[in-house]
Amino acid sequence: MTTNEKIVNFFKDRFPLEKFFILDLLAHKEVPVHKLTFGYYTGGLTLLFFMIQVVTGIILLFYYEPTISDANLSVEYLANFIKGGFFIHNLHTWSSSLMIFFGITHFLMTFAMKSFEKPREFTWITGLLLLGITFTLGFTGYLLPWNQIAVNATKVGLQSVQSVGQLLPGPLAQIPKTIVSTFQGGDEVGQPTLSRFYVLHIAFLPLAVLILISVHLLLVQLHGMSQGVDKPSLKVEKFFPEFILKDLMAWTLVVGGVLVLALCLPFEAFLPYPLLEPFNALGPTPGGIKPEWYFYFVYYPLELLPFPVLVVLSMIIIGILVLSPWIFRKTSRKILTIIAAIMASYLFIITVFGQQIYSYLKP
Ligand code: HEM
Repeated sequence: MTTNEKIVNFFKDRFPLEKFFILDLLAHKEVPVHKLTFGYYTGGLTLLFFMIQVVTGIILLFYYEPTISDANLSVEYLANFIKGGFFIHNLHTWSSSLMIFFGITHFLMTFAMKSFEKPREFTWITGLLLLGITFTLGFTGYLLPWNQIAVNATKVGLQSVQSVGQLLPGPLAQIPKTIVSTFQGGDEVGQPTLSRFYVLHIAFLPLAVLILISVHLLLVQLHGMSQGVDKPSLKVEKFFPEFILKDLMAWTLVVGGVLVLALCLPFEAFLPYPLLEPFNALGPTPGGIKPEWYFYFVYYPLELLPFPVLVVLSMIIIGILVLSPWIFRKTSRKILTIIAAIMASYLFIITVFGQQIYSYLKP
């Protein structure tokens, strides 16, 4: 076989577009039943929260003003003076956290089930891109209310990216600086930063997610569900209507839960009021500036480890994740499940007990 034929066959195996007849696929699609079957629900739940974000985000756009003089006022006005405004704003904030929560759970489950195995390498890679963009949506959205915690946490985040440049050799050192100046739009976090984060948050990133989700889901339909466990399950259920009905039941339960949360518990109740005051460029920086909970897994190591160690470690981990379909080609699902459990334990411990660990190690 010539190299050209090998390349064509490589892509034909991975993107078998000739199989794409949606009704046929639905009629024949089956979901394996085994001890990790619940993992197959996690992608759908992430999708559900993305859809809630799009709908609530569009409603918020009717009131939000992307200027440093009015951004904070417009959010406060919507939440306090518009009927249903508090609910929509609170639903958007809770759902952003839940989209990230389910995105991480889905990532851990697909890793544990070795769902990245040939021919699903590109499902995995589009998934990793989706997770990266989802985190960036969280980061850009955090700035939009233009309050003390939003602006100061964004400054810290952008400074950390810029510091990576000091560790890179030659012309590579310019890359983080260029990224930061492109997004910041000036020497300080200010109006250009807000305008750029706004465009990224409401247009560019959601569009990128939409395109990537379409490819991701197309690949899931083309390849069907992966087997999930080492010993192939003999029991399967039809995707339509059995699995999809259970999927809808899970969605109903979760939507019920998030509606109650959005109605009763302000997401911001977890922050002391001074952090929520409008940003004052001339005032002192209040204490307790932190990113959102879903960045604690990098924030606390950033506080505790030497910066170069953390950068090298992060690059190695990202490299391993991207190349997982090839690195773990021969690894059993049992071992992958143990690695996924270790990752999940780390995320849980650093997110819930990060502050205590930090106070203990750096009293
Ligand atoms: C916005 C984020 C994402 C959405 C909306 C999404 C959506 C979905 C959906 C609906 C499925 C089919 C049902 C299921 O297996 O759960 C799926 C499958 C899959 N996803 Fe995602 N996903 C996202 C992110 C990710 C991430 C972060 C990864 C891993 C890095 C990933 C890897 C996969 C893989 C490998 C499959 C195939 C599962 C199998 O065949 O058993 N996805 N995704």
